[in-house]
Amino acid sequence: RPAVARTLKALDRTIAGFRRKHETVALVPTMGALHAGHLALVRRARRAADRVVVSIFVNPAQFAPSEDFASYPRRLAADVSALAEARADLVWAPDAKVMYPAGFATRVAPEGPALAGLEDKYRPHFFGGVATVVAKLFGQVRPDIAVFGQKDYQQLKVVTRLAADLDLRVKIIGLPTVREKDGLALSSRNLYLSPEERGRAPVLHRVLAECADKIAAGRPIKATLESGAKALARAGFVLDYLEARNAETLAPARSVKDGPIRLLVAARLGTTRLIDNIAV
Ligand code: PAJ
Repeated sequence: RPAVARTLKALDRTIAGFRRKHETVALVPTMGALHAGHLALVRRARRAADRVVVSIFVNPAQFAPSEDFASYPRRLAADVSALAEARADLVWAPDAKVMYPAGFATRVAPEGPALAGLEDKYRPHFFGGVATVVAKLFGQVRPDIAVFGQKDYQQLKVVTRLAADLDLRVKIIGLPTVREKDGLALSSRNLYLSPEERGRAPVLHRVLAECADKIAAGRPIKATLESGAKALARAGFVLDYLEARNAETLAPARSVKDGPIRLLVAARLGTTRLIDNIAV
């Protein structure tokens, strides 16, 4: 089983042991309630470096007061077992007082992809909280490599920018979204879905995939996304956004000439907010 560090002192001791042997270190940042998507990142990290550190920290700074911080699933023991199977070397699981001790007064303010008008429009506090905790995790672990999922596509862009802009000297690797057989992107928040909602949830990916096919076949983007939005509403989703963006810059894409294009969606099913994205 991987060692579990809960203090900076314990973390430093283990990382120093790796570094003494000139081992490279990969970090996989998570909020726990691990699923096969997270474990795919761990396996990729395993191939990329000698040692794999997985952080598990439900970061209060990226939740608004109205959001699900209190109810976010926490299951450290099960996570550590899954990480033993995936052959992680170290679990970094600080509590909030270790991450944000009394007197903490600095916050990273990401711009560029963090102000693209997608997640940031509906969760304005979110990327500041993510960038702050990820910068701290990089400072704590000082990894050579960090692995993130494309499931959170805008977040991947924000973190890549963060590492470059603050000279954090960490190589960011992005991995494709791991999905259930029916297409639903794996997410810790899928645990919130009632059985009935879980039955309808795959419509989100199906609609995205249909829109991507139509746009690739030359249908106009605007009309395609409008009919996609209607299909989601019919399935009971309350849409935050369904948009076509340049896959690199996240600038709005009005035609395939603005490509490569990425479709990004966020919608609520009951009280659960789901996000997904797909390449055209
Ligand atoms: P969390 O939602 O736990 O996700 C941790 C990592 O797993 C992220 O890089 C995310 O993109 C990736 N991931 C989640 N579901 C995935 C799936 N189905 N397929 C592939 N990768 C997937 O994202 C966060 O935590 C936090 O914002 C964090 C970066 C840890 C900062 O607090």
